[in-house]
Amino acid sequence: MDLTTTWLGFALKNPLIASASPLTASLDRIQKLEDNGIAAVIMHSLFEEDINHEIHQIDHFLHINSHSNAEATSYLPSEVDFNNLQADHYLEEIRRVKQSVSIPVIASLNGVSAGGWIKYAKKIEQAGADALELNITYIPTAIDMEGSIVEKMYVDTVAMLAQEISIPINVKMNAYFSSPANMAKRFVEAGAKGLTLFDNPTRVEVDLELLSPLQRANITTSYNLSETLRWCAILYGKLSCSLCANTGIHSGEDVLKAIMSGADATALASVLLTKGEGEIKQILSDMEEWMEKHEYESISQMKGSISLAHTDNPSAYERNSYMYALQHYRV
Ligand SMILES: Cc1cc2nc3c(=O)[nH]c(=O)nc-3n(C[C@H](O)[C@H](O)[C@H](O)COP(=O)(O)O)c2cc1C
Repeated sequence: MDLTTTWLGFALKNPLIASASPLTASLDRIQKLEDNGIAAVIMHSLFEEDINHEIHQIDHFLHINSHSNAEATSYLPSEVDFNNLQADHYLEEIRRVKQSVSIPVIASLNGVSAGGWIKYAKKIEQAGADALELNITYIPTAIDMEGSIVEKMYVDTVAMLAQEISIPINVKMNAYFSSPANMAKRFVEAGAKGLTLFDNPTRVEVDLELLSPLQRANITTSYNLSETLRWCAILYGKLSCSLCANTGIHSGEDVLKAIMSGADATALASVLLTKGEGEIKQILSDMEEWMEKHEYESISQMKGSISLAHTDNPSAYERNSYMYALQHYRV
């Protein structure tokens, strides 16, 4: 059975990628993922706030007491101080991981806006990352902020990043834009070589004891795959970029559904966090079993086979399916 696929320009041995999570935050976990058959890893994110903190810290060290006198140099931080900073630690991790595994290693930057922190991407490239995933997560709470402003902020950030580095950029999208397909196109025009559909890492809860809302990491189930399948099917064949299905991939069948909808690969976090790295082998063997039973020989053969690429009017198709689902429900 040929499970190989091409994603972001990499020839992958199968379509399973480890999505950014605590499982991709240490070398030994990443090695375990590789040992169990994962085809690529996306490292846990380095956050804009961490980088900015570092920039401010250095700034602070350089300017505090600098008015004093020539002795001011003694106030400068030692090498050790710099090396202990979060962002530099991330670079060191990339180097270590790259030396130890043979699968593609994708770093992850997580931020809210175009700014100086983006320059850190160059260091990530120099540290040896094969590609960079950009996760922009901004919750626009101001009622005067129009959607077009938010969208521009996202696209500008991708464009700024594309100017900094030459390794492939994968944009991890959320599904909350008024026109996700148009945003996907604009991300690609701005320099993205791949899109991950979709990011959905936290959910809001209310703690009735603390009388306070709080966000928790969102552990998904296959039920959460729906929007991903919808948009993979809509975007397949429309853009010159890779598509990675994310959120709700838990089984071999989920992977096959995503590939048939139009994904080149799939990214997994919750299933590996809850069941362990050993589940990778189970998912791969379930995929092979299904493909054999249904006489498929390769992943490439099934890619996009149920997408909307050949549907004359995808919006009308979506509307009809929507009405049918509501009108044919039986109590
Ligand atoms: C505990 C936890 C930590 C995560 N950390 C990150 C992160 O650092 N960066 C990121 O882009 N996504 C992060 N995610 C999101 C996952 O990479 C993934 O996009 C999301 O969980 C949906 O995939 P899943 O349904 O397979 O869990 C995290 C998710 C969880 C549950």
